[in-house]
This record gives sequence, structure tokens and C-alpha cells, in this order.
Amino acid sequence: MLELKHVWKSYRVGALGSKRLTAVRDVSIDIAPGEVLSVVGESGSGKTTIGKMVLQLTSVTKGQILLDGEDVTARGHAARKAYYRRVQGVFQDPFSSYNPIFKADRIFETVRESYFADVKRAEWTARVEDVLQGVRLDPGSVLGKYPHQLSGGQLQRMLIARALLLDIKVLVADEIISMLDASTRIDVLNLLGELKERGLGVLFITHDLSLANYISERVVIMRHGAVVESGTTGKVFTDPRHPYSRNLLASVPQLHRKWSDSEAVPEKLEADGDRDLDPAPLTEVDEGHWVAAHP
Ligand SMILES: Nc1ncnc2c1ncn2[C@@H]1O[C@H](COP(=O)(O)OP(=O)(O)O)[C@@H](O)[C@H]1O
Ligand SMILES: [Mg+2]
Repeated sequence: MLELKHVWKSYRVGALGSKRLTAVRDVSIDIAPGEVLSVVGESGSGKTTIGKMVLQLTSVTKGQILLDGEDVTARGHAARKAYYRRVQGVFQDPFSSYNPIFKADRIFETVRESYFADVKRAEWTARVEDVLQGVRLDPGSVLGKYPHQLSGGQLQRMLIARALLLDIKVLVADEIISMLDASTRIDVLNLLGELKERGLGVLFITHDLSLANYISERVVIMRHGAVVESGTTGKVFTDPRHPYSRNLLASVPQLHRKWSDSEAVPEKLEADGDRDLDPAPLTEVDEGHWVAAHP
């Protein structure tokens, strides 16, 4: 359904944009309907840049992004508007998606203005209440409120409800759990589970391996902008092959182990210099389990 083919992104950086920083290197991924694909990796590995390119918030330097086989990059305003009916994003900080001087439910109104101006008021209200209930929010307790009167979890769920009003096919969720309280984290995670059961594809971006393991069918591990390993969550988590993946998994704190009896901290892999290189080729080590060549 959604496909990235050999996608690269470089940003201009330094004085007057004199240098280039390669943030994403030759990434190919795809998401099927009803599937959650996690993109994991440490900070700076290029995860958010991938999400932004999918959401057309930043340009693609090289490569293609396809939705149902159609190239969606670099097209006009009308095509972009049609695209946003099918692909939407939710981000880490829900507060940043709201204007504090307006009531939070204004986010629904802007969808109506852009896409459903012909829908009658009463019918629209019913639809909004419906999607709110779909994300397990009580319309009475969120409608008419200002953002500061609502919790991060409520605001996050309203953004998901907004996406559902559009009847989207793909949701990009970038670190959406990180800023929530422990008590609402599991609700939002379970909500994503329900969405995938309705056939939505979710690009779940996270630095948190345990979240990726919990929610996704497949996982892509990134480092310095390139994919180092990908495959079904079961295979990658039980049988990681790339030293970087192993390192990452070994560094997840485990509940049954105390810090005092943990092993020595794994040695840091070499530094950032490989950003300018072509990424190592991936080989299939097991069905659907791909690993980048490594020493
Ligand atoms: N707008 C930008 N301009 C220049 N460099 C950027 C920009 N956005 C991100 N980067 C750089 O690109 C790399 C990848 O960033 P990002 O995609 O945000 O990683 P992640 O989400 O995995 O933490 C980082 O080195 C970051 O500093
Ligand atoms: Mg990020």
C-alpha cells in the first residue's frame, strides 16, 4: 500500500547551507493494510525524517514514495490535498498540534472546512462524536475545551480521531507514546491495535524497542540514516543478526535484572562518519529477515 523505494534525504547545513548532511540513506520499506511497521533506532538515526517525507512535510532528495502504486512526491496542491485524505500523522508533542488560543475541537473544524464543507452541521457533529467514541473519548468531556484543559493523552487521541474523520489508510505515528503518562500509554497503544484491525497501516516511529515489540508485525532498525536490519518482529527480536541490533537489544533494561548484575556496557560502535557512505547492502538471512553486511 505505502512503499518507499530507495529513498534518500540530505539537508543543507552549516553557514549558508554550505554543507550537506545525509539524514536518510537508501531506505526501502513498505506497509500493508492492517499492519504496524515500526521504525526504530537511536536519536538522530533518521526516523522522523522518514515520517516527514511520507507526510510530504519535507522533500525527498532521491527515490520514490508510492501509495497504491502511485508516486506521491512532488505533485501539485490538489494531489497533495487528496493525499492527506489518505495519509495523516500524529507526533510526539500533542500540544504543538493545537493553537492554545482556540478550543481544541477546532482541529475537527479545519477538516470540515477543507474536505467536507457541504456536510450539514448536525451530520458533522454526529460524525465527530462518532470518531471520538472510536478513540474512546467521551465527546461531552472534550468538546468545547481548550488544549490546556485536556491531558496529553486526550489531545493525542483527538488527533487520531481527526485522522479517522478523513478515513485514512496510513497513519504516521512519530514517538506518540513517549510524552504520555504511564496510565494513558497503554490506552493509546491498544487504540493503535484496534486501528490496524480496521485495516489501517501504521508507520510507528519509536526509539523504544519494547513498544515496537509490543505493537508491530514488522520492524526496521535504523542507524545513521540507513537500515541495518528488518524483518518480522519475532525474528528480529529473538534472533538479531546485526551487531548494532544486538547492542540495541542488549541495552534495553530488563525488569528481572538489576543494574548491579548487568554485564559490562557493550562497546560503542564506530562513530557517525559513515553517514556519507553508501549503506551496506542487505542480504536475506531468513525468510523476510534482512541484515546489512557488517564486519
Ligand atoms: N531540518 C533539518 N535540517 C538539518 N538537519 C536536520 C534537520 N532535521 C533533521 N536533521 C538531522 O538529520 C538527522 C536525522 O534526524 P531525525 O530524522 O530527526 O532523527 P530521529 O527522528 O531518528 O531522531 C540528524 O542528524 C538531524 O540532526
Ligand atoms: Mg525523531
